[in-house]
Amino acid sequence: MPTVKVLDGVYWVGAVDWNVRNFHGFTYTTHRGTTYNAYLIVDDKTVLVDTVYTPYAGEMIDRISEVVSPEEIDYIIANHVEVDHSGAIGEVLKHAPKAKVVGTARCRQGLMKHYFGEWDFQVVKTGDEIDLGGRSLRFIEAPMLHWPDTMFTYIEKDALLLPNDAFGQHLATSERFDDEVDENILMAEAAKYYANILWPLSPLVIKKIEEIQNLRLKINMIAPSHGVIWRRNPTKIVEAYLRWAKGESEDRILVVYDTMWGSTEKMARSIVEGVTSVNVDVRMYRIPYSDRSDIMADLLNSKGLLLGSSTINNDIIPTVAPILEDLKGLKPKGKVAAAFGSYGWGGGAVKTMEETLKKAGFDIVQPGLSINWVPDREELKRCFDFGKEFAERIKHL
Ligand code: FEO
Repeated sequence: MPTVKVLDGVYWVGAVDWNVRNFHGFTYTTHRGTTYNAYLIVDDKTVLVDTVYTPYAGEMIDRISEVVSPEEIDYIIANHVEVDHSGAIGEVLKHAPKAKVVGTARCRQGLMKHYFGEWDFQVVKTGDEIDLGGRSLRFIEAPMLHWPDTMFTYIEKDALLLPNDAFGQHLATSERFDDEVDENILMAEAAKYYANILWPLSPLVIKKIEEIQNLRLKINMIAPSHGVIWRRNPTKIVEAYLRWAKGESEDRILVVYDTMWGSTEKMARSIVEGVTSVNVDVRMYRIPYSDRSDIMADLLNSKGLLLGSSTINNDIIPTVAPILEDLKGLKPKGKVAAAFGSYGWGGGAVKTMEETLKKAGFDIVQPGLSINWVPDREELKRCFDFGKEFAERIKHL
């Protein structure tokens, strides 16, 4: 894939990772691969904004070489320390001996602890600018979006925001712009990205967007470090971020469960029928057959969660634990939940689920439903009513 001209003097020189299927270890599935976006700015000074994941360093340097000799690079802007963006800095520096690395103070600390290099480094903070001749780079610190080192780079002349991970999507395509790809796929991947990476940081997302709005920066284009560039209507993704950060979602319920011998599954199926009976959208996931990061993405746009588990050893079955761990970490805002499950003696799963869901920030709006052994006809009716009652509550939130 060739270097792509983004604007006059601004080029995409990143890499497409078509085959990556897991990100952040195995915490996030990337069914559609991803891209590592790096941007070359050619002015009186030459700048590389972010780099790529280490294995793609050579590819990126080849793309840079299509436009300028890498020796010409004056600055490498490190908006973020994580290896998918900084992994190629060392290799670039071998080809760009005069380049200075630029980032926040936390970025400098982080890069030194990752790469142990004696790099020429310029620390910047919010409001600092670097004059390139025809344009200047302006920096906006964005700590915890999503690491402490993160910053955004803004170019007023081009009305271009380079916010690194923010507004990104794990989406490998041969196209580079939002108006060239399927919008539904694009927004689904952007939502999945938000849910699995930025969700717990929602208060900071709102604050940062408001800060940028108050600066009254003209933004015609948002070029993130993953996926495609927002140029058709960059406001669309900013508005989506505000909606997600504020917990605004659809009248939809997820029924997420696992079962040992089928009793909890019978409960789940009757609960789904109860929800459906009052015309509320519902989606059902048996955990081991489903993808956790897809469930989180679906939850982002859903109001309620009904979580089910059989009881084993007076507790949840272990296959349900990873979902609870995800929820504890992601801390979804503004969601309601209830728990259900079958047990043989003693019980315990419903109690564990309710306690953990509360810790994760859910509002438990109705008592959990526990059924002994196999649900009979009357008990299945109780499951139906449990789902129906929960769905009625959703409608009035
Ligand atoms: Fe795409 Fe936080 O790295």
